[in-house]
Amino acid sequence: MTYHAADDRYAKAQFRRAGTSGLDFPALSFGLWQKFGTDHPYEKNRATVLRAFDLGITHFDNADRYGPPHRAAQQFFGRVLRQDLAPYRDELILTTKAGNPIGASPYLKGGSRKSLLGSLDHSLRDLGTDYVDIFYSHSPDPTTPLEETVGALVSAVQQGKTLYVGISNYPTDRAHEAAQLLRRAGVPLLVHQPRYSLFDRRPEENGLLDLAAADGFGLVVYSPLAQGLLTGKYLDGIPAGARAENSAFLSPDAIDDDYRRRASALNKIAEARGQSLAQLALQWVLRRPEVTSAIVGASSAEQLEHNVQALSFAPLTAEELALIDEALT
Ligand SMILES: NC(=O)c1ccc[n+]([C@@H]2O[C@H](COP(=O)([O-])OP(=O)(O)OC[C@H]3O[C@@H](n4cnc5c(N)ncnc54)[C@H](OP(=O)(O)O)[C@@H]3O)[C@@H](O)[C@H]2O)c1
Repeated sequence: MTYHAADDRYAKAQFRRAGTSGLDFPALSFGLWQKFGTDHPYEKNRATVLRAFDLGITHFDNADRYGPPHRAAQQFFGRVLRQDLAPYRDELILTTKAGNPIGASPYLKGGSRKSLLGSLDHSLRDLGTDYVDIFYSHSPDPTTPLEETVGALVSAVQQGKTLYVGISNYPTDRAHEAAQLLRRAGVPLLVHQPRYSLFDRRPEENGLLDLAAADGFGLVVYSPLAQGLLTGKYLDGIPAGARAENSAFLSPDAIDDDYRRRASALNKIAEARGQSLAQLALQWVLRRPEVTSAIVGASSAEQLEHNVQALSFAPLTAEELALIDEALT
């Protein structure tokens, strides 16, 4: 069936500016890390992506690694782009990342110029697009001079293969260094992509939030629901098909007594606000102005719809934030 995007897709959508740049992101972005490989049905995943766009989600986060197998999530997205979203390409922020291992070859991992630019070319072919909007160095590579990694990002812009550049998982000092090198090269760092959630507050503790404000880049945070732990789904065990049951990245051991105690306490705060734990968790990361967008994953269009509703609740009050801090101790 021919897809026509919902006419009202921007009616309720909320956008936030990335640092001191001119680019706006949707408050919630959508990521294709897991369950968008060849192991999941194309039509169901296509419906989820199209629902995301209909809900005003214009930013789709991808990487050469995502699958399984590696590269499959981008090939999936390329197919949806070709089939449905091509007329809307100008309304999309498409990203890719390179540098995390995708094979045994020394050129399929790390922050070298060879690895990054080779991966980007391959990703453009997989996505079936001439350019991405953001090209990321997926992780810092201490064995490669930062100048070389940054130089590859700059070249990608100069070659017209990406509009902006980002970094991900960089510690605060290395992020500052990268931001300085990029600024000197005339290609300001657009965004940093760290993990941030109620269960992982490191960006507050390690100064990354402060650095983002000082250096003028945005933070596009990942796993804001702690891969599903910050939803109500694990409060009574592990439901069939949930990530903790079938993913190498979320062990069932994470669902222990300490987890249940903290998640139940947070759930009570959410219930008192008339919302779900997932919605509370998303509002919580977005309370910080340094956070440009939270990238959620979803294994169905229904999950995504539920998560987007988080944006319609009143902001968290100081009292509620204090209760949340207490629940996490
Ligand atoms: N830069 C990096 O190194 C890096 C690393 C990780 C992720 N990321 C990016 O961030 C994106 C999001 O990461 P994430 O998937 O870990 O995010 P997340 O939003 O914390 O977790 C998403 C998972 O939680 C479950 N879920 C979501 N909404 C739900 C709901 N309303 N009710 C019940 N369960 C729900 C689903 O899992 P199930 O239904 O399968 O249980 C879903 O796949 C990734 O796709 C990727 O783009 C980047």
